Amino acid sequence: MQKFENRGHTIFHGDAVEILASEVADKSVDLVFIDPPYNIGKKFNGKKYKQTDRDYLAWCYQWIDLCLKKLKDTGSMYIMTSTQFMPYFDIYLRDKIEILSRIAWYYDSSGVQAKKYYGSMYEPILFCVKDKKNYTFNAHDILVEAKTGAKRKLIDYRKNPPQPYNTEKVPGNVWEYPRVRYRMDEYENHPTQKPVKFLERIIKASSNEGDTVLDPFSGTFTTSYVAKMLNRQSVGIELEDEYVKIGLRRLDISTHYMGEKLEKEVKSYKREKPETTHVLKLFKETDAAQLYGKHKGNSEQ
Ligand SMILES: C[S@@+](CC[C@H](N)C(=O)[O-])C[C@H]1O[C@@H](n2cnc3c(N)ncnc32)[C@H](O)[C@@H]1O
Repeated sequence: MQKFENRGHTIFHGDAVEILASEVADKSVDLVFIDPPYNIGKKFNGKKYKQTDRDYLAWCYQWIDLCLKKLKDTGSMYIMTSTQFMPYFDIYLRDKIEILSRIAWYYDSSGVQAKKYYGSMYEPILFCVKDKKNYTFNAHDILVEAKTGAKRKLIDYRKNPPQPYNTEKVPGNVWEYPRVRYRMDEYENHPTQKPVKFLERIIKASSNEGDTVLDPFSGTFTTSYVAKMLNRQSVGIELEDEYVKIGLRRLDISTHYMGEKLEKEVKSYKREKPETTHVLKLFKETDAAQLYGKHKGNSEQ
């Protein structure tokens, strides 16, 4: 296990269960965002994550219990997994915490589309709070445009006197954000990076400035990165050193890791052309100059 820290932001490099159990104080966290491997065979840093359903759930229940212990009594939890495992999480959590919303993160998938069944276009999220009478929910910080009556400038005649409909509202439980794609500025080299905008909504709604946000499966450390932007503190845990390096850079914790300079990968379409192309280009330029010379000579005749 390794620990890196800078001004209220901590990165742990190691196993989530071990680190949650030994390094994170009980009741110290205001908000936990959990985006674990979904057990659908996705590879992280070249390692395939797929075990039996029973083993996956037994493992998940360990870190779920630990995350619950780490949350303050006023704390909130957002937890994700694949559609096939979410019902188990839902039933497991019902007796331990209040589930206030069952959210679908909807996107138009750009990948290969299913031809013989209905392809997956969403990922489920549970929004839970420890105490439904005492929790943070900054509704005014996450308002979205109300598309119905407000947009059509309708008057609400049920009010006395009648008033225009509100132009803003708290988002519903279907959230539409595009997935992070290669050409986006925020893209990092990770297969399941969550969008900055998506974490912004969660962190703005369910924490206040100075609060502590925990992410036990940090990946590209989007949670910590957004927490920092919004003046919260963060604790992020990640097993794979390739992704820890992204976190160290994104959070400005370190410029180097084991002697390696940490730099954002240059996108292939922004890279300089390979050497051979330069050589070809040189040949072409020389040929062109010669031709031009000949041509010039000709024209001067
Ligand atoms: C779904 S991804 C998280 C993506 C992240 N939310 C983001 O925006 O980039 C899950 C991450 O959990 C990490 N992971 C897998 N097993 C772990 C473990 N036992 N402890 C800590 N991290 C683990 C993987 O390496 C992977 O980066």
